[in-house]
Amino acid sequence: MAQENIVRHESRVDRQQREARNQHYGLTIWFTGLSGSGKSTLSVALEERLATMGCRTYRLDGDNVRTGLCRDLTFSPNDRIENIRRIGEVAGLFRDAGIINLTAFISPYRQDREMARALADEGDFIEVFVDAPLDVCETRDPKGLYAKARAGNIPNFTGISAPYEPPEEPELTVHTDANTLGECVDQLVDYLLTQGYIEASLSQDASASANA
Ligand code: ADX
Repeated sequence: MAQENIVRHESRVDRQQREARNQHYGLTIWFTGLSGSGKSTLSVALEERLATMGCRTYRLDGDNVRTGLCRDLTFSPNDRIENIRRIGEVAGLFRDAGIINLTAFISPYRQDREMARALADEGDFIEVFVDAPLDVCETRDPKGLYAKARAGNIPNFTGISAPYEPPEEPELTVHTDANTLGECVDQLVDYLLTQGYIEASLSQDASASANA
């Protein structure tokens, strides 16, 4: 057993102290949806908004992480499970650092998203279903991958030759086909404010110090 001789070593600075310094909780905002649904675009825009409000943030994105941490993984079902397992663990490290982390992975399997959620304390994991119908994503086809997948050149392509299991009870659903990017970001920020994850006063403090 690989963990047999492993003993955890505790830090003298803890999560609460880091959160107090950041003036907000460590939290994961987990975007899930088809390729081309808008996860990356939305997470970039939300991160930017949160940063202007004074929040400490970090974004993890499938296309980026797969060139480094997960570069050994394919899109087979088992490798996707491992991809999400690693991201779930990394998201946990960022929560411990008191950082609002935004993850943008297709994360097509319900069970894997639940595995990532199970690592978080109650309330620290916000699942956002980026809901755009397959035909809309396929029409957008920002990377030309749907066309390649339809032509049979990409095996296991989500929505075409591999499954996507929509969340049953996400904290939030955003409709990127019906609402603008700005409206979707507003919806997310409103949620974070009304649920008490972030405070509007933080934004006043941040803009006050930015204007000082
Ligand atoms: S996940 O299924 O394991 O969560 P992830 O979000 O990391 O996927 O990567 C998805 C991105 O990889 C897509 O946006 C697309 O650009 C690219 N990609 C390459 N091959 C595939 C494939 N077979 N299925 C889905 N996306 C793919």
